Amino acid sequence: MSKFTTISLTILLCNLLFLFHGHANSQLYNEEHAVLMKLKQHWKNPPPITHWTPSNTNHCSWPEITCTRNSITRLYLNNTSISQTVPSFICDLKNLTLLDLNYNDISGEFPRVLYSCSKLEYLDLSQNYFVGPIPDDIDSLSQLRHLSLGSNNFSLDIPASVGNLTELRVLQLYRNQFNGSFPPEIGSLHNLEILELAYNTKFVPSKLPSNFSQLRNLKTLWMTESNLIGEIPESIGNMTALECLDISQNRLSGKIPSALEDFEVSSNNISGKLPEHLCAGGKLVGLVAFDNNLSGELPESLGNCNSLLMISIYNNGFTGKIPVGLWTASNLSHVQISDNKFTGELPDKMSRNLSLLQISNNMFSENDILTKVKEENVIGSGGSGEVYRVPVNSSGDVVAVKRI
Ligand SMILES: *[C@@H]1O[C@H](CO)[C@@H](O)[C@H](O)[C@H]1NC(C)=O
Ligand SMILES: *[C@@H]1O[C@H](CO)[C@@H](O)[C@H](O)[C@H]1NC(C)=O
Ligand SMILES: *[C@@H]1O[C@H](CO)[C@@H](O)[C@H](O)[C@H]1NC(C)=O
Ligand SMILES: *[C@@H]1O[C@H](CO)[C@@H](O)[C@H](O)[C@H]1NC(C)=O
Ligand SMILES: *[C@@H]1O[C@H](CO)[C@@H](O)[C@H](O)[C@H]1NC(C)=O
Ligand SMILES: *[C@@H]1O[C@H](CO)[C@@H](O)[C@H](O)[C@H]1NC(C)=O
Ligand SMILES: *[C@@H]1O[C@H](CO)[C@@H](O)[C@H](O)[C@H]1NC(C)=O
Ligand SMILES: *[C@@H]1O[C@H](CO)[C@@H](O)[C@H](O)[C@H]1NC(C)=O
Ligand SMILES: *[C@@H]1O[C@H](CO)[C@@H](O)[C@H](O)[C@H]1NC(C)=O
Ligand SMILES: *[C@@H]1O[C@H](CO)[C@@H](O)[C@H](O)[C@H]1NC(C)=O
Ligand SMILES: *[C@@H]1O[C@H](CO)[C@@H](O)[C@H](O)[C@H]1NC(C)=O
Ligand SMILES: *[C@@H]1O[C@H](CO)[C@@H](O)[C@H](O)[C@H]1NC(C)=O
Repeated sequence: MSKFTTISLTILLCNLLFLFHGHANSQLYNEEHAVLMKLKQHWKNPPPITHWTPSNTNHCSWPEITCTRNSITRLYLNNTSISQTVPSFICDLKNLTLLDLNYNDISGEFPRVLYSCSKLEYLDLSQNYFVGPIPDDIDSLSQLRHLSLGSNNFSLDIPASVGNLTELRVLQLYRNQFNGSFPPEIGSLHNLEILELAYNTKFVPSKLPSNFSQLRNLKTLWMTESNLIGEIPESIGNMTALECLDISQNRLSGKIPSALEDFEVSSNNISGKLPEHLCAGGKLVGLVAFDNNLSGELPESLGNCNSLLMISIYNNGFTGKIPVGLWTASNLSHVQISDNKFTGELPDKMSRNLSLLQISNNMFSENDILTKVKEENVIGSGGSGEVYRVPVNSSGDVVAVKRI
């Protein structure tokens, strides 16, 4: 065979392969297009997707759709006025990895039909009207990396099988009607970075499971108003990735574990001192611990914490002086320390960014700020009273003061 013939044959073969491949692709494309048309019909033509028409064939360019090699991989159907069920044929989109149905009007039980979407990695059903339990066999969706079921009316227990979804990075179950509990098995989700269980006020009162401390990649733990009781486990200190811990508005007691650096624990029944090394990482932005039973002096480390933006520790039993450097933390804008037993003098200089200062009901020796809190100085009002404009030093710098 001559060289020329070999090359020709190769080209011919490539063309044939390409044709065949192209044909297979266009068949898949047409099938997927048909699935979209069926979905639109099933959902009774919601206005946001009127552009989904048989003649508008270039569906990969529609804003709700992402394709990979011409096959549908992502469906963004958030805020699309869908009120019908999720149909099983949606999984005829064999390559679907992401389904976002956030903010629709879908009711009924968890759509177990999605178990047939074998490549599904991202599922967002938040802000709908789903009811009933999260099914025990939810771990059939074994590829899931992101599961959002927040703001629905799911009830009963969060099943232990959630702990089998070991690919999960994000688990959002906030604002539901769970009246059972959450499983310690969540602690085995070693890839988890974000865990949000907040505002589940009907949870059976439970302790914060020490098993959660195994979540070494967790950055955010949000459990506001989740009916937590008992003490914060000491082991939480070895969650080294934790950046944001919000366990406000529970019934936690005991002390703040000494290894914690950044946390929100307001409206609990926590006692003892603040951890000594509060700003050790140099990244502390907010100290939020109001409405507790904390006592002792503020840690010295707060006097050298330039990252600090707000300190909100009113209504505790703190004593002693405010570390001098705290007042001049360059970004400091909110200081709420009323209703404690702080002593000492108020400083001459405060951060230029200070816009809210609440200091009433302490034992400061220099109380002249409060004498400036008069009717003519009202500049606005907030949740718990009026905000006043008060000069704080001889050079005429002014701050807003709120009397609560
Ligand atoms: C989509 O699915 C088809 C058939 O299952 C497969 O051949 C193809 O590789 C998949 N495409 C992508 C981008 O995953
Ligand atoms: C939802 O979509 C409507 C228009 O269809 C828009 O006005 C509204 O702002 C959107 N809401 C959200 C939360 O995105
Ligand atoms: C859906 O969410 C995506 C990503 O969060 C956003 O870009 C898009 O605007 C949202 N679509 C609607 C209709 O709200
Ligand atoms: C949950 O149920 C309550 C009544 O039990 C209802 O008022 C509320 O709208 C429902 N919320 C959702 C998101 O389904
Ligand atoms: C987790 O998966 C294993 C293996 O499939 C299974 O035996 C076990 O029952 C599952 N755990 C739960 C709590 O469902
Ligand atoms: C939890 O809620 C479900 C559904 O609303 C109800 O049937 C069940 O009795 C409740 N269980 C408890 C322990 O309150
Ligand atoms: C909780 O953690 C303990 C100690 O690490 C372990 O023995 C136990 O199996 C864990 N429980 C669950 C449900 O993961
Ligand atoms: C986690 O913290 C607890 C309590 O502080 C401690 O006993 C335990 O050894 C720590 N575990 C690891 C793996 O660091
Ligand atoms: C606060 O905790 C203490 C024990 O640490 C307990 O005696 C007290 O009753 C608790 N107070 C409230 C309001 O829960
Ligand atoms: C506050 O803590 C002190 C110990 O520091 C304790 O004696 C007291 O009972 C606590 N008060 C409340 C209301 O929990
Ligand atoms: C102060 O705030 C600014 C703007 O948010 C930020 O860029 C800067 O890093 C902050 N300073 C410190 C010391 O954290
Ligand atoms: C604090 O004030 C300085 C200068 O007045 C400004 O550059 C900085 O951005 C402010 N920080 C914040 C967090 O607003």
